[in-house]
Amino acid sequence: MRAIHTLALAVSLVCAASSAQARDWATIKQSGTIIAASEGAYPPFNYFHGAKLTGYEIDVMEAVAKKLGLQVEWRALAFDALIASIRQDRFDVAIASHGITEERQKSVDFTNPHYCSGGQIVAKAGGPLKASELTGKLLGVQLATTYADAARKVSGAKEVKTYPKDTDALQALLGGRVDAWITDRFVAKSALAKNASDGLKAGDMVFVERDAMILRKGNQELREQLNKGLAEIKADGTLKAISEKYFQEDISCS
Ligand code: ARG
Repeated sequence: MRAIHTLALAVSLVCAASSAQARDWATIKQSGTIIAASEGAYPPFNYFHGAKLTGYEIDVMEAVAKKLGLQVEWRALAFDALIASIRQDRFDVAIASHGITEERQKSVDFTNPHYCSGGQIVAKAGGPLKASELTGKLLGVQLATTYADAARKVSGAKEVKTYPKDTDALQALLGGRVDAWITDRFVAKSALAKNASDGLKAGDMVFVERDAMILRKGNQELREQLNKGLAEIKADGTLKAISEKYFQEDISCS
Protein backbone atom coordinates (compact mmCIF):
# COMPACT_ATOMS: atom_id res chain seq x y z
CA MET A 1 0.00 0.00 0.00
CA ARG A 2 2.80 2.37 0.99
CA ALA A 3 4.64 1.49 -2.20
CA ILE A 4 1.57 2.26 -4.29
CA HIS A 5 1.22 5.64 -2.62
CA THR A 6 4.84 6.44 -3.24
CA LEU A 7 4.44 5.44 -6.86
CA ALA A 8 1.31 7.57 -7.26
CA LEU A 9 3.13 10.55 -5.76
CA ALA A 10 6.07 10.03 -8.07
CA VAL A 11 3.78 9.83 -11.10
CA SER A 12 1.94 13.01 -10.17
CA LEU A 13 5.23 14.87 -9.61
CA VAL A 14 6.46 13.83 -13.05
CA CYS A 15 3.16 14.96 -14.58
CA ALA A 16 3.35 18.31 -12.81
CA ALA A 17 6.86 18.87 -14.09
CA SER A 18 6.06 17.97 -17.68
CA SER A 19 2.82 19.92 -17.79
CA ALA A 20 4.70 23.19 -17.16
CA GLN A 21 3.89 24.82 -20.49
CA ALA A 22 5.53 27.51 -22.53
CA ARG A 23 3.22 30.50 -22.67
CA ASP A 24 1.09 30.07 -25.75
CA TRP A 25 0.18 32.85 -28.15
CA ALA A 26 -3.15 33.68 -26.46
CA THR A 27 -1.44 34.12 -23.08
CA ILE A 28 1.34 36.27 -24.52
CA LYS A 29 -1.08 38.39 -26.53
CA GLN A 30 -3.26 38.93 -23.51
CA SER A 31 -0.32 39.94 -21.32
CA GLY A 32 0.82 42.44 -23.98
CA THR A 33 4.48 41.46 -23.47
CA ILE A 34 6.70 38.81 -25.02
CA ILE A 35 9.65 37.62 -22.93
CA ALA A 36 12.65 37.36 -25.23
CA ALA A 37 16.17 36.21 -24.45
CA SER A 38 19.53 36.84 -26.07
CA GLU A 39 23.18 36.65 -25.09
CA GLY A 40 24.53 40.18 -25.25
CA ALA A 41 28.12 39.28 -26.12
CA TYR A 42 28.00 38.78 -29.88
CA PRO A 43 28.46 42.13 -31.61
CA PRO A 44 26.97 43.44 -33.79
CA PHE A 45 24.13 40.87 -33.54
CA ASN A 46 23.47 41.18 -29.79
CA TYR A 47 25.61 43.07 -27.27
CA PHE A 48 25.50 45.44 -24.36
CA HIS A 49 25.94 49.16 -24.82
CA GLY A 50 26.46 50.09 -21.18
CA ALA A 51 23.58 48.41 -19.38
CA LYS A 52 21.41 48.28 -22.52
CA LEU A 53 21.03 45.18 -24.66
CA THR A 54 21.35 46.28 -28.27
CA GLY A 55 22.28 45.11 -31.76
CA TYR A 56 20.76 43.85 -34.98
CA GLU A 57 18.83 41.00 -33.34
CA ILE A 58 17.49 43.19 -30.54
CA ASP A 59 16.14 45.63 -33.13
CA VAL A 60 14.69 42.77 -35.20
CA MET A 61 12.85 41.33 -32.20
CA GLU A 62 11.57 44.76 -31.18
CA ALA A 63 10.30 45.39 -34.73
CA VAL A 64 8.59 41.98 -34.93
CA ALA A 65 6.97 42.52 -31.52
CA LYS A 66 5.72 45.93 -32.60
CA LYS A 67 3.97 44.35 -35.60
CA LEU A 68 2.35 41.87 -33.22
CA GLY A 69 1.25 44.63 -30.85
CA LEU A 70 3.60 43.54 -28.06
CA GLN A 71 6.22 45.01 -25.78
CA VAL A 72 9.47 43.08 -25.25
CA GLU A 73 10.81 42.13 -21.85
CA TRP A 74 14.47 41.12 -22.28
CA ARG A 75 16.55 38.46 -20.54
CA ALA A 76 20.29 37.94 -21.10
CA LEU A 77 21.76 34.45 -20.70
CA ALA A 78 24.98 32.69 -21.64
CA PHE A 79 24.71 31.39 -25.21
CA ASP A 80 25.17 27.76 -24.18
CA ALA A 81 22.29 28.07 -21.67
CA LEU A 82 19.67 29.31 -24.12
CA ILE A 83 18.42 26.03 -25.57
CA ALA A 84 18.14 24.32 -22.18
CA SER A 85 16.38 27.36 -20.71
CA ILE A 86 13.78 27.43 -23.50
CA ARG A 87 12.93 23.91 -22.52
CA GLN A 88 12.44 25.05 -18.92
CA ASP A 89 10.08 27.82 -20.11
CA ARG A 90 12.15 30.64 -18.68
CA PHE A 91 11.16 32.88 -21.61
CA ASP A 92 9.02 32.72 -24.77
CA VAL A 93 11.62 33.08 -27.51
CA ALA A 94 15.36 33.54 -27.96
CA ILE A 95 17.08 35.50 -30.70
CA ALA A 96 20.81 34.84 -30.55
CA SER A 97 21.98 33.77 -34.01
CA HIS A 98 21.13 30.09 -33.74
CA GLY A 99 21.94 28.38 -37.02
CA ILE A 100 19.16 25.98 -38.02
CA THR A 101 20.54 22.47 -37.48
CA GLU A 102 18.93 19.05 -37.35
CA GLU A 103 20.49 18.45 -33.95
CA ARG A 104 18.89 21.57 -32.45
CA GLN A 105 15.57 20.78 -34.13
CA LYS A 106 15.34 17.76 -31.86
CA SER A 107 14.98 20.03 -28.83
CA VAL A 108 13.59 23.38 -30.04
CA ASP A 109 11.58 24.84 -32.92
CA PHE A 110 12.93 27.53 -35.24
CA THR A 111 11.12 30.47 -36.83
CA ASN A 112 11.94 31.39 -40.42
CA PRO A 113 15.48 32.78 -40.61
CA HIS A 114 16.09 36.47 -39.99
CA TYR A 115 19.44 36.25 -41.78
CA CYS A 116 21.65 34.00 -43.88
CA SER A 117 25.34 33.67 -43.17
CA GLY A 118 28.01 31.11 -42.36
CA GLY A 119 31.28 30.34 -40.62
CA GLN A 120 34.51 31.97 -41.72
CA ILE A 121 38.16 31.56 -40.78
CA VAL A 122 39.86 34.62 -39.28
CA ALA A 123 43.61 34.79 -38.58
CA LYS A 124 46.38 37.32 -38.15
CA ALA A 125 48.49 38.23 -41.19
CA GLY A 126 50.62 35.21 -42.03
CA GLY A 127 48.24 32.84 -40.20
CA PRO A 128 46.09 30.10 -41.74
CA LEU A 129 43.32 31.51 -43.92
CA LYS A 130 42.45 28.47 -46.01
CA ALA A 131 40.63 25.42 -44.64
CA SER A 132 43.51 23.32 -45.96
CA GLU A 133 45.96 25.33 -43.83
CA LEU A 134 44.30 24.49 -40.52
CA THR A 135 46.17 21.21 -40.15
CA GLY A 136 48.35 21.27 -37.05
CA LYS A 137 46.86 24.57 -35.88
CA LEU A 138 45.19 25.78 -32.69
CA LEU A 139 41.61 26.85 -33.35
CA GLY A 140 39.53 29.12 -31.11
CA VAL A 141 35.71 29.02 -31.15
CA GLN A 142 32.72 29.82 -28.96
CA LEU A 143 31.32 26.89 -26.98
CA ALA A 144 28.15 25.16 -28.22
CA THR A 145 28.19 26.87 -31.61
CA THR A 146 28.14 25.60 -35.17
CA TYR A 147 31.72 27.01 -35.38
CA ALA A 148 32.78 24.60 -32.64
CA ASP A 149 31.18 21.76 -34.66
CA ALA A 150 32.96 22.93 -37.80
CA ALA A 151 36.31 23.24 -36.00
CA ARG A 152 36.03 19.68 -34.69
CA LYS A 153 35.52 18.45 -38.24
CA VAL A 154 38.79 20.01 -39.44
CA SER A 155 41.02 17.02 -39.94
CA GLY A 156 44.40 17.29 -38.31
CA ALA A 157 43.81 20.47 -36.29
CA LYS A 158 46.16 20.42 -33.30
CA GLU A 159 43.51 21.48 -30.79
CA VAL A 160 40.11 23.17 -30.66
CA LYS A 161 39.89 25.61 -27.76
CA THR A 162 36.36 26.57 -26.76
CA TYR A 163 35.45 29.81 -25.01
CA PRO A 164 32.22 30.80 -23.25
CA LYS A 165 31.92 33.91 -25.43
CA ASP A 166 32.81 34.50 -29.06
CA THR A 167 34.57 37.72 -28.04
CA ASP A 168 36.87 35.58 -25.81
CA ALA A 169 37.83 33.56 -28.89
CA LEU A 170 38.67 36.82 -30.69
CA GLN A 171 40.81 37.92 -27.72
CA ALA A 172 42.61 34.55 -27.82
CA LEU A 173 43.43 35.15 -31.48
CA LEU A 174 44.62 38.71 -30.83
CA GLY A 175 46.71 37.48 -27.89
CA GLY A 176 48.31 34.73 -29.99
CA ARG A 177 46.83 31.89 -27.91
CA VAL A 178 45.18 30.39 -31.00
CA ASP A 179 46.19 30.48 -34.66
CA ALA A 180 42.72 30.90 -36.12
CA TRP A 181 39.21 31.82 -35.05
CA ILE A 182 36.10 30.48 -36.73
CA THR A 183 33.13 32.80 -36.42
CA ASP A 184 30.23 34.27 -38.34
CA ARG A 185 31.24 36.10 -41.52
CA PHE A 186 29.46 39.31 -40.42
CA VAL A 187 30.97 39.13 -36.92
CA ALA A 188 34.30 38.76 -38.69
CA LYS A 189 33.62 41.73 -40.95
CA SER A 190 32.84 43.92 -37.96
CA ALA A 191 35.78 42.64 -35.89
CA LEU A 192 38.16 43.34 -38.78
CA ALA A 193 36.85 46.88 -39.07
CA LYS A 194 37.09 47.47 -35.30
CA ASN A 195 40.56 45.97 -34.91
CA ALA A 196 41.99 47.37 -38.14
CA SER A 197 45.43 47.96 -36.60
CA ASP A 198 45.79 44.32 -35.50
CA GLY A 199 46.15 43.07 -39.05
CA LEU A 200 43.35 40.51 -38.86
CA LYS A 201 42.42 38.78 -42.11
CA ALA A 202 39.24 36.97 -43.10
CA GLY A 203 39.79 33.71 -44.96
CA ASP A 204 37.71 30.82 -46.32
CA MET A 205 34.06 30.33 -45.54
CA VAL A 206 33.80 26.86 -44.01
CA PHE A 207 30.01 26.39 -44.12
CA VAL A 208 26.81 28.33 -44.71
CA GLU A 209 23.79 28.48 -42.41
CA ARG A 210 20.43 30.15 -41.92
CA ASP A 211 19.98 31.81 -38.54
CA ALA A 212 16.63 32.01 -36.77
CA MET A 213 14.81 32.56 -33.47
CA ILE A 214 14.25 29.52 -31.28
CA LEU A 215 11.18 28.68 -29.24
CA ARG A 216 9.67 25.86 -27.24
CA LYS A 217 8.98 22.80 -29.36
CA GLY A 218 5.32 22.57 -30.37
CA ASN A 219 4.49 26.21 -29.53
CA GLN A 220 2.94 26.33 -32.99
CA GLU A 221 0.79 29.43 -32.89
CA LEU A 222 3.57 31.56 -31.40
CA ARG A 223 5.84 30.36 -34.19
CA GLU A 224 3.27 31.33 -36.84
CA GLN A 225 2.82 34.76 -35.29
CA LEU A 226 6.58 35.40 -35.13
CA ASN A 227 6.87 34.32 -38.77
CA LYS A 228 4.03 36.67 -39.66
CA GLY A 229 5.74 39.59 -37.89
CA LEU A 230 9.01 38.73 -39.60
CA ALA A 231 7.34 38.58 -43.03
CA GLU A 232 5.81 42.00 -42.38
CA ILE A 233 9.09 43.68 -41.42
CA LYS A 234 10.67 42.08 -44.48
CA ALA A 235 7.91 43.29 -46.79
CA ASP A 236 7.92 46.90 -45.56
CA GLY A 237 11.71 47.34 -45.66
CA THR A 238 12.25 47.47 -41.86
CA LEU A 239 14.42 44.35 -41.79
CA LYS A 240 16.62 45.70 -44.57
CA ALA A 241 16.98 49.05 -42.79
CA ILE A 242 18.00 47.37 -39.51
CA SER A 243 20.50 45.25 -41.41
CA GLU A 244 22.03 48.25 -43.14
CA LYS A 245 22.28 50.10 -39.82
CA TYR A 246 24.54 47.39 -38.36
CA PHE A 247 26.19 45.79 -41.41
CA GLN A 248 26.00 48.40 -44.19
CA GLU A 249 24.42 45.65 -46.30
CA ASP A 250 21.29 43.50 -46.40
CA ILE A 251 22.02 40.16 -44.73
CA SER A 252 18.48 38.77 -44.92
CA CYS A 253 17.94 35.52 -46.82
CA SER A 254 16.88 36.13 -50.42
N1 ARG B 1 25.59 30.94 -35.55
C1 ARG B 1 26.33 30.17 -34.61
C2 ARG B 1 25.52 28.99 -34.13
O1 ARG B 1 24.49 28.76 -34.62
C3 ARG B 1 26.83 30.97 -33.44
C4 ARG B 1 25.81 31.71 -32.67
C5 ARG B 1 26.43 32.43 -31.52
N2 ARG B 1 25.49 33.31 -30.94
C6 ARG B 1 25.76 34.11 -29.91
N3 ARG B 1 24.84 34.87 -29.43
N4 ARG B 1 26.97 34.07 -29.39
O2 ARG B 1 25.90 28.28 -33.26
